[in-house]
Parts: sequence; C-alpha cells; structure tokens
Amino acid sequence: MKGIVLAGGKGTRLYPSTLAISKQLLPVYNRPMVYYPLATLMEVGIRDIYIITQEEDLALYQKLLGTGEQWGIQLSYGTQSSPRGIADALLVAEEFLAGDSFALILGDNLFWGPHLVEQVSTAIQKLKGATLFAQQRADVADFGVVEFDDSENPISLEEKPKIPRSHWALTGLYLYENKAVGLAKSLTPSARGELEITDLNQLFLQKGELQVEKLEETTFWQDAGSHDSLLDLGCWVRQTEASLGEEIANLDKIARLKQWV
Ligand code: DAU
Repeated sequence: MKGIVLAGGKGTRLYPSTLAISKQLLPVYNRPMVYYPLATLMEVGIRDIYIITQEEDLALYQKLLGTGEQWGIQLSYGTQSSPRGIADALLVAEEFLAGDSFALILGDNLFWGPHLVEQVSTAIQKLKGATLFAQQRADVADFGVVEFDDSENPISLEEKPKIPRSHWALTGLYLYENKAVGLAKSLTPSARGELEITDLNQLFLQKGELQVEKLEETTFWQDAGSHDSLLDLGCWVRQTEASLGEEIANLDKIARLKQWV
C-alpha cells in the first residue's frame, strides 16, 4: 500500500496568511501542518509516500521533508499547476502508484486516537474498492456527508449539502484499490471546476464497492481549513500533548518505534 499526501490548493480561506506560503506548511502548534497527515500514514505502516504540492511550493516541501531517508521512508513529489480538485491527485500520482492500492490523505487533516491505527490498518487489510472514514459532527454541512441504512451500509454521499441527510461527515482519509485511478479519469469537473472526490466515491457506491467506517468515538479528527479551525487545532495539540506527556506527529519517534531507522 502506497500513500499520497495532498498538500496543494490555494488556501484562500486563510488569506492573507497563505498568500506567500502553502497552507500545509503553516504551523499547527509545534510542527508544520503536513507532519500530521504524514504521521498518520507512517503510523499505519505506509513508507512509500507521494507529496502533491503547488508547483511554486515544491522546493519548500523538499527542503522541509527531503527524501524521507531520515525517517526510513521514501518520499517523492508531484505537482498540480492549479487546484483541479482532490480527485485530480489520482491522475497526478498515476505513475507513482504503478498499479498499487493506496491511501490518500488531505494535507490539512489531523487524526489522532488510541484505536485509530488499528482501525485503519484493519480497513487496509480488508480493502475492496474504496473505504472512507466518517465522524458525527454538528457542522456537517461544511463537509462531504454520508447517509447510512439500518445495517450501517452507506446509501448516499453528498458534498457540502445545504440540507444534510445525516450528521456523518466524511474525513480526508481515503483508501482505494488502484482501479480508482481509471475511474477518476472518467470524472468531469463540477460546477466549481474541480474533479470532486465525492463524485469518485459515488462511482464506488454505485458499484457496491464502497465501505464507510465510522471512526471510533475516541478518535479526534479536524481539518485546518479556516482561521478558527487552525487556531483550535493548535490549542488542541498543545493541550493534548501536555496531558499525555508525549508529542503528537513526532516523525522521528514514529520512525524509531517502527524500527525504520
Ligand atoms: O476535510 C475533509 C473534507 O475535505 C471532506 O469532508 C470533503 O468531502 C472534501 O471535499 C474536502 O473538503 P474541503 O472543502 O476541505 O476541501 P478543500 O478544497 O479545502 O481541499 C482539502 C485539501 O486538499 C486542502 O488541504 C487543499 C488540498 N487540495 C485541494 C484541492 C481542491 C489540493 O491540494 N489540490 C486541490 O486541487
């Protein structure tokens, strides 16, 4: 299983902070935002990882993360000339994926929890088609939304619906078999001009090959798309690290624990 961290986009909701620097390089308390999704991929054992950035930011990411050798992983890089949508990541990464299954994680998403690694690792082992992860939220209309039937099967997906059919938000972690790349090629841009990840997931739903895992209640998930969520996230990391007495997304430590270095 390979990994993709999507760290492009213009970050317009964070202007002017992101006018001159990529959003995923901004600090979330004591480390750059991109460390958090990278840590999640590493924790579930993924070592071959492709980072997608805007062309103009590539050199900064390479300076920050390098080849990954320092953590016993392999990092390679791809670029988007413009933010053509989350599903565009699959087209950019096609050569890197070379037919393999993969986990795609959004560069502004932070996941943490005592059972997260186990839940995602199990989903990787069972992967057939696509697996998404959902969490119940009050502000669900800001996200992709999934509706379940009585047997916990997903029955509908909508991107930022005005009237949500459930309170289950879709997180920015996606597991796919490689056939997702071919399906992404069949997508057409949405009204906002993007290849929508929800449209891709809809294709898996129609084929009966979409699983949606409800994240364990102990799992924390938040994206850093707005000024408020960025500040809240930084505070959350600070408080959580203080109460746990250990650091979150310490890549050196993850690599040591995995015995990759
Ligand atoms: O955070 C989870 C949500 O992420 C999901 O619930 C939604 O279904 C999904 O569409 C996405 O919604 P956002 O509104 O947060 O997407 P956004 O456009 O902010 O992009 C998410 C991340 O992906 C962000 O870090 C920037 C990056 N990105 C986005 C686009 C469209 C790219 O690198 N390239 C792109 O072309």
